[in-house]
Amino acid sequence: MRSLIDIAELSLKELDELIRVAEDIIAHPDRYAGKCAGKKLATLFFEPSTRTRLSFEAAMLELGGSVLGFSEANSSSAAKGESVADTARTVGCYADIIAMRHPREGAPLVASRHAGVPVINAGDGGHCHPTQTLADLLTIYRHKGRFDNLTVGFCGDLKYGRTVHSLIAALSRYKNVKLVLISPPELRLPGNVKWNVLERCSMAYEEVDSLEEAMPELDLLYMTRVQRERFDDPAEYERLKDRYILTADKLKYAGEDMCILHPLPRVNEISVAVDKDPRACYFEQVLNGKYMRMALILKLLEDAKNGVCAEEDVTIGAESGLRCCNPRCITAVEQELEPEFHLTDAEAGVYRCVYCEQRAVR
Ligand code: NCD
Repeated sequence: MRSLIDIAELSLKELDELIRVAEDIIAHPDRYAGKCAGKKLATLFFEPSTRTRLSFEAAMLELGGSVLGFSEANSSSAAKGESVADTARTVGCYADIIAMRHPREGAPLVASRHAGVPVINAGDGGHCHPTQTLADLLTIYRHKGRFDNLTVGFCGDLKYGRTVHSLIAALSRYKNVKLVLISPPELRLPGNVKWNVLERCSMAYEEVDSLEEAMPELDLLYMTRVQRERFDDPAEYERLKDRYILTADKLKYAGEDMCILHPLPRVNEISVAVDKDPRACYFEQVLNGKYMRMALILKLLEDAKNGVCAEEDVTIGAESGLRCCNPRCITAVEQELEPEFHLTDAEAGVYRCVYCEQRAVR
């Protein structure tokens, strides 16, 4: 069964195809109106959401299908202590495809192994968010017409911002993309993304802390919200939350063609006056998210019908003596979930948890 847990599971050809289908949906919505008649999408959201959940539901409704689900953990049996595996197995009896958001890193992967229907990761903790990346890529494509030869600034919470991690993973596969990582030292890109994606792909990047200084060379500026819900210390959040605020005045440092992206919700990091600037693309991103999710639902249901299988990962278990020490990983709480690791750097002997991608320890 083919799911979408991590953006790396889609080949460049498949990404191109999703973009082509999304553009065709935009041009000819009528042709797609009945494509999912009789099919059901379940949205299982254990964390708050406006855009992601509603765009998945709008996507399925526009394809002629129907939707069911829940929008908070407390209204599901998770509140009674049910495991992710059992919830997924249950919902797989009612729905043809599942979109799941969960605060635990790796939870959608667990679900995909038990649901018996395709599972789409709609955001797992501070780990990844592949369908936001699809929305980002369509927006970039429609404005820039390419993914190669871009200088991309990421600003704000690069540590916990799962949309940042997934978009960097996608961009790392194109040619001559340079990243400018703008954050306070406390919110820099985590080691697993830095080493696993940037170093492995020899991607050009620099870490800076001034947005104004970085701005002139950027083709794209990806602003992010400081992720309050991931902080252990509320005082630390208070100290960092307003570190970067993009104002209309600061935009004088930017080129005329620079696109401003933001996965939303915005809190304070882009002032409302910027919305009028023609470079502001974040509300277009919202709409593009719906079209890309339509294209993705069509693809995964088609793959399921044709019996297309996911590629098997070679993994080792607890007998290896390896452990995942990430307290936010699903392995820290899910009943009887065997830890699993894969080798990501043979030369250095680095193994990572298959659920959360954190480096395993012995
Ligand atoms: C993002 C998320 O949930 O990670 N929102 C979204 O899905 N568009 C970004 C955020 O919450 O800051």
